[in-house]
Amino acid sequence: MLSQYLYISTAPNLSRDEMDAILATSARNNPARGFTGLLLYNGRNFLQLLEGEAEALDALMSRISNDPRHNGVSVLHNSRIEDRTCPQWAMKRVIISESIANRKQLLEQDLPEGLDKDVRKMILNFAVLN
Ligand SMILES: Cc1cc2nc3c(=O)[nH]c(=O)nc-3n(C[C@H](O)[C@H](O)[C@H](O)COP(=O)(O)O)c2cc1C
Repeated sequence: MLSQYLYISTAPNLSRDEMDAILATSARNNPARGFTGLLLYNGRNFLQLLEGEAEALDALMSRISNDPRHNGVSVLHNSRIEDRTCPQWAMKRVIISESIANRKQLLEQDLPEGLDKDVRKMILNFAVLN
């Protein structure tokens, strides 16, 4: 059974190396463990969409929640899904650096079709926060 999580967290002093390490771990683990998703970072906060087998995903969420590189993990959405919405993304990195006007447009083009409309809205709203 597949499920999906969307969460936000806080990491105000994350170094470039720490960010790279998180992405390297995700790139190494996720294909083998069947996790897919996307990771946004705006310089202070993360937003991550994660998909995978429910039991394995719960275990990953609990590891991520205890990861000292960020804090205040708040789950915005957790639901069963029929199909993966982003099967091709081992962990897509989204860098938020464009002007606010461009961010929404760029991300809108990138986000997968099958995404729940509330989940899509939360991702887009996060992307335009300053
Ligand atoms: C914001 C954030 C996102 C993360 N995303 C993933 C992920 O998608 N996959 C993953 O395996 N670990 C992710 N991690 C790292 C986990 O917290 C944990 O360090 C890692 O899963 C342990 O990997 P290991 O079992 O290879 O030691 C993330 C950590 C943070 C802070």
